[in-house]
Amino acid sequence: MSIRGVHIQVKDLTHRYTQKCPLTFENVNIEAQHGEALVIIGRSGCGKSTLLHIMAGLMRTTSGTLRLDDKEVTGPSSRWVMMFQAPHLFPWMTVERNVGIGLHFAGWPRKEKQERVAETIRLVNLEDYAKNSVQDLSGGQEQRVALARSLVMEPEMLLLDEPFSALDAFTRSALQRDVRSIAKELGINLVMVTHDIDEAVLMADRALIMAGAPGRIVHDLSVDLDDPREREDPVVQTKRNHLMQIFHDASHLPSDDKPSSTEVVDEAMSESKLVGIS
Ligand SMILES: Nc1ncnc2c1ncn2[C@@H]1O[C@H](COP(=O)(O)OP(=O)(O)O)[C@@H](O)[C@H]1O
Ligand SMILES: [Mg+2]
Repeated sequence: MSIRGVHIQVKDLTHRYTQKCPLTFENVNIEAQHGEALVIIGRSGCGKSTLLHIMAGLMRTTSGTLRLDDKEVTGPSSRWVMMFQAPHLFPWMTVERNVGIGLHFAGWPRKEKQERVAETIRLVNLEDYAKNSVQDLSGGQEQRVALARSLVMEPEMLLLDEPFSALDAFTRSALQRDVRSIAKELGINLVMVTHDIDEAVLMADRALIMAGAPGRIVHDLSVDLDDPREREDPVVQTKRNHLMQIFHDASHLPSDDKPSSTEVVDEAMSESKLVGIS
């Protein structure tokens, strides 16, 4: 299985739920290259899930455009899939039937379907559970099934809305590592939303900080660390502390006198220079 990612262009995206609601977010601009892993971090309520739903084609934007490989997104597609905090599996089916459901509906012949399903189940390290009912699985294993069910359709972009937040720390860290390495192996884009700074540092090529009401992208930080990334590694810790400081500065500004994004960046960068972080 080999997939290539997409070039993402989000331009001046602004959203409000209804005329009476305040803006959810405004002037969101994002560009990502093929196969890039983006993590959007922000406090609850700043509009992350709404933005992700729009990027998945599940909701309409109020203004602005989203293009994937230069084509405007106007609805859902099997080229991009979304994973949520709850795995939403079919509880009466086995692991392999859950994983193969999309291929089944797409009318794939039995043999090709079995091969692709087996390959995808191997990719997420569930080969010993293929014939089990999903009801026998742990929460982490259920999320692996959900991941395999998404990957089996060979999407170019995987959108993840805090998918590991209900899991224990050990399971969460195994999934963080595996999802990143699988995405890199396949060449697909990741766009993940979280409020967990550690998760951002472990999984992102770039971290975007979203803050304010209405939400805006106030900082864009490259997370250029080698793989595999270990939480305890001092280089990872330094990057984490840097991101935490920027996040703290950006999210404690009152929304009325929030400076422009460049000012936030400049402030954070001069601070990081002071403590010797680049
Ligand atoms: N269906 C809806 N109708 C009106 N307002 C909504 C709806 N869903 C979310 N909101 C509001 O939009 C804002 C952003 O929500 P959301 O995108 O879920 O933020 P986040 O994922 O960052 O926590 C919040 O103030 C929330 O209350
Ligand atoms: Mg949310």
